[in-house]
Amino acid sequence: MTDPDSWWLDERAYAGREHSDEQHTRRYDAKMDAGAPAEIRLLEEAGVLGPDSTVVDLGTGTGQFALAAAAVCARVVAVDVAPLMLARLREKLDSSTLSNVEVVSAGFLTYEHVGGPADVVYSRFALHHLPDFWQAIALRRMAEMLRPGGVLRLSDVVYSFEPEDAERRIEAWIAETMAADVDGGWTRAELAEHVRDEHSTFTWLLEPMIERAGFDLADATYDDSGMLAQYLCRRR
Ligand SMILES: C[S@@+](CC[C@H](N)C(=O)[O-])C[C@H]1O[C@@H](n2cnc3c(N)ncnc32)[C@H](O)[C@@H]1O
Repeated sequence: MTDPDSWWLDERAYAGREHSDEQHTRRYDAKMDAGAPAEIRLLEEAGVLGPDSTVVDLGTGTGQFALAAAAVCARVVAVDVAPLMLARLREKLDSSTLSNVEVVSAGFLTYEHVGGPADVVYSRFALHHLPDFWQAIALRRMAEMLRPGGVLRLSDVVYSFEPEDAERRIEAWIAETMAADVDGGWTRAELAEHVRDEHSTFTWLLEPMIERAGFDLADATYDDSGMLAQYLCRRR
């Protein structure tokens, strides 16, 4: 229950309806390929991922990236607020030989990093669960987990267009992305729910927050729809 005297956000209450839906968590990996091998290569090329590295994956979900990272680094901390998503990750760990993944039930605003500073903080399609003010707080917390020169790899639904284009862009994105049913991908209702009920923001709001949190924006890429952004951010 939320403490009425506390002003700190109860991030579990913002974690997304679908992440406490058992069926959704079971079909998640079939719907969503996190592209982990390419992400691993990118971080290796950036010089921050290798046999001695520590990685913190915030909003790890079913751990697609965390498991791939664990195969090439020393320590992975896989963090999420949704017990059912973590249950899927634990099932995979139980049937793997990996022994360097710590699963932590916490979130952007509550995870307390212990041990040596991270070389990589990774977060994919999760930060949009927090409203803007809390995204800024979360980004500062991520910076504090990293060593100087360490990297935040951040991917999310972030809007790289002007407010007057919103209706046209969002409708075009839904039309080209939507699947007929929840098993085949993301339905119109799921995509609409994202825009309506979650907190994706504009690139031109998020990027100053990233810099203000203590990062240099080494790279920013936007997809053609203007709906997805990927950042490589260096801890100053
Ligand atoms: C769309 S899934 C992405 C999972 C994974 N990163 C991937 O790329 O496949 C979003 C995840 O963010 C988690 N999440 C939501 N709010 C969070 C918070 N405040 N802190 C950490 N994780 C959060 C959800 O529980 C969910 O597992």
